[in-house]
Amino acid sequence: MRESPGTPRPNDTKTDDEATKVHRAETKTKTPVEAKRQGPTLDDIKKDERVKVYIRSANAQTGAIGYTEHGERHANTTADGARFILKSLGHEARRTELGAVAAYLHDMGNVITREKHGQTGALLAKDILLDRGFTLEEVALIMGAIANHEEAEGGLPVSAVSAAVIIADKSDVHRSRVRNPKTTTFDIHDRVNYAATSAEIKVSRREKLITLDLTVDTEVAPLMEYFEIFLSRMMLCRRAAEFLHCQFALVINNTRLL
Ligand SMILES: [Fe+2]
Ligand SMILES: [Fe+2]
Repeated sequence: MRESPGTPRPNDTKTDDEATKVHRAETKTKTPVEAKRQGPTLDDIKKDERVKVYIRSANAQTGAIGYTEHGERHANTTADGARFILKSLGHEARRTELGAVAAYLHDMGNVITREKHGQTGALLAKDILLDRGFTLEEVALIMGAIANHEEAEGGLPVSAVSAAVIIADKSDVHRSRVRNPKTTTFDIHDRVNYAATSAEIKVSRREKLITLDLTVDTEVAPLMEYFEIFLSRMMLCRRAAEFLHCQFALVINNTRLL
């Protein structure tokens, strides 16, 4: 008997993340009331069945090729970070919400392929956003932010929303993203993520400073390993912070390194 097309079998999209505390279905930050009055919000996007299935499938597929968690936990964490950065710097409520939407959707393109997932994700998001009632200008802004988030794909900050998405995405380095259960077979990405026990974005509007404050267990991964894979990401964060008229600081274990 054939299954009806378009209905994914549960096992195709269900990941171990969803069964553990790693899964997080909600953001910690909230949509400002003014942003709700001005149009659809992140909550409307999260209710869309396409968004749910694409992000869960993207997470399952990146897991299948050995990547860390790229599902709803990462989407929510990035949305929180982008919203926090824009709000803390005094951006208007609607732009703050568009930042959260772009951040939530930024890795959805992994449902197609890992390579160029920023660009494919932007195109996938377009129809969903238009169907949900975002204006064409808002869709254009969100597509640009999604397509430009990845340093390995030539991404660069192209708007305040894009800059906030970049910093929020690169800041999500954490033990809970590691899926490989065997520490003896960790690769460098697993080790560095597993070593990070806390990652916090701090914003000082007065000092014009955005700080990524990390706590890293150097017994798990030496700091050199962190820099080996994160230096290019931190350079992009610096450009993104400059776009927001801020400096970028990296603090690891209470020492400022950048
Ligand atoms: Fe990405
Ligand atoms: Fe990401």
